[in-house]
Amino acid sequence: MKLTILAGIICFLVCGDALENGLARTPPMGWLAWERFRCNTDCKNDPENCISEKLFMKMADIMVSEGYLSAGYNIISLDDCWLDHNRSESGQLQADASRFPSGIKALADYVHSKGLQFGMYEDYGTLTCGGYPGILNHLETDAKTFAEWGVDYVKLDGCYADPSEMDKGYPEFGTLLNLTGRPMVYSCSWPDYQLDKGIKPNYTFIGTVCNLWRNFDDIDDSWVSVSSIIDYYGDNQDTLIPVAGPGHWNDPDMLIIGNFGLSFDQSRAQMAMWAVLASPLFMSVDLRTIRPEMKAILLNKNVIAINQDPLGVQGRRIYKKSGVEIWIKSVEPISGADSSAAVVFLNQRTDGTPTRVSVILRDIGLTSLFGYNVEELFDGKNLGVYRPDDSLTVTVNPSGVVMIKCTVQTKESLISEADWNEDNALF
Ligand SMILES: *[C@@H]1O[C@H](CO)[C@@H](O)[C@H](O)[C@H]1NC(C)=O
Ligand SMILES: *[C@@H]1O[C@H](CO)[C@@H](O)[C@H](O)[C@H]1NC(C)=O
Ligand SMILES: *[C@@H]1O[C@H](CO)[C@@H](O)[C@H](O)[C@H]1NC(C)=O
Repeated sequence: MKLTILAGIICFLVCGDALENGLARTPPMGWLAWERFRCNTDCKNDPENCISEKLFMKMADIMVSEGYLSAGYNIISLDDCWLDHNRSESGQLQADASRFPSGIKALADYVHSKGLQFGMYEDYGTLTCGGYPGILNHLETDAKTFAEWGVDYVKLDGCYADPSEMDKGYPEFGTLLNLTGRPMVYSCSWPDYQLDKGIKPNYTFIGTVCNLWRNFDDIDDSWVSVSSIIDYYGDNQDTLIPVAGPGHWNDPDMLIIGNFGLSFDQSRAQMAMWAVLASPLFMSVDLRTIRPEMKAILLNKNVIAINQDPLGVQGRRIYKKSGVEIWIKSVEPISGADSSAAVVFLNQRTDGTPTRVSVILRDIGLTSLFGYNVEELFDGKNLGVYRPDDSLTVTVNPSGVVMIKCTVQTKESLISEADWNEDNALF
């Protein structure tokens, strides 16, 4: 009896439902090279854009000097193609010496000196997707090397590996990372590769091993790609929502805002949706040349606050009809049984004119008797207090969004009836 109770207590402490390395309590934020810079290794002809220490140092500088770090983007991460094709004589991974002449440790030190964290890319298989050495058969050496280099974040891809082995391999590497004693956020591609092979991922298990994980196709520079990811998250939300929370997140891949493929409205749509999905926010964009209006979207503190809300709830699609969707995410503050909410009205129609959408707050689950203060988030417009039976109307641009926060009111926060919004029109 005593033993059973003790086992129960120990289990309560160490057998939690999810990975408890204390990291990524809110979705991680940073900059990742892949979507924008890919495997460009041609430093001879394209020295400013090739994968090199110069590129990462420059991006680190800008992340600090232009306000990205203070907005919360605190990780700068390598992706594929940083490696030499051969390990060193002692069997360690090594960077391509012509493109990273100072070595990875020096780059990590530089990144740390800027107040940023350093992210690493590797692959569980024999080779990375780009054909560089993977970690298979070297797991322990590589975990130790990452710790010695000062890595804070590890993205582990899954090319050239057997997806059915990943249930064993990803946890094994996670344990080895843990045993180094250096806290490292663990980003896994495990479920994505399993799904591609028709294996149903055990997300409960994956959530005990990884801080975040990819479950769908790589993003590329188009609205079609963004839209397909949003659809995947909506269509699979009953599987994906329960497994997300502080310390363990679904990862719909990078933000492509500021590149070539998205319009201004589509860029706001990606930012709003990634916020409401409690997604990791990794920009993959050339920070040297990004247009100011796109930068403003990435730095919007109202929208980032929804993403980083401490409750860590992944939002849900509660309405979808004729191209119009409504997504909702519970956020702080909470008053009694009622929480506040971020609501995204997403218009996936591309046939032309803006669409008007009206909802009664009660119909989207906002039932607090005291009502909600409603604020439009991108432009920061306060729209007044709405009661549950009030109707709210928004006008949503094609492939665009309107994003609002409904902050639950308390009795005390209501000064007088005069504060009630009477005309109920948003715009
Ligand atoms: C890398 O190693 C292979 C053998 O494993 C060898 O043939 C090749 O010459 C090496 N390349 C370099 C650049 O050292
Ligand atoms: C290793 O795992 C233990 C148990 O989950 C955790 O308490 C500890 O913080 C982890 N350490 C590192 C460095 O990740
Ligand atoms: C999924 O993993 C959990 C936690 O490790 C385990 O308890 C459960 O049996 C697994 N489910 C399946 C279907 O294998």
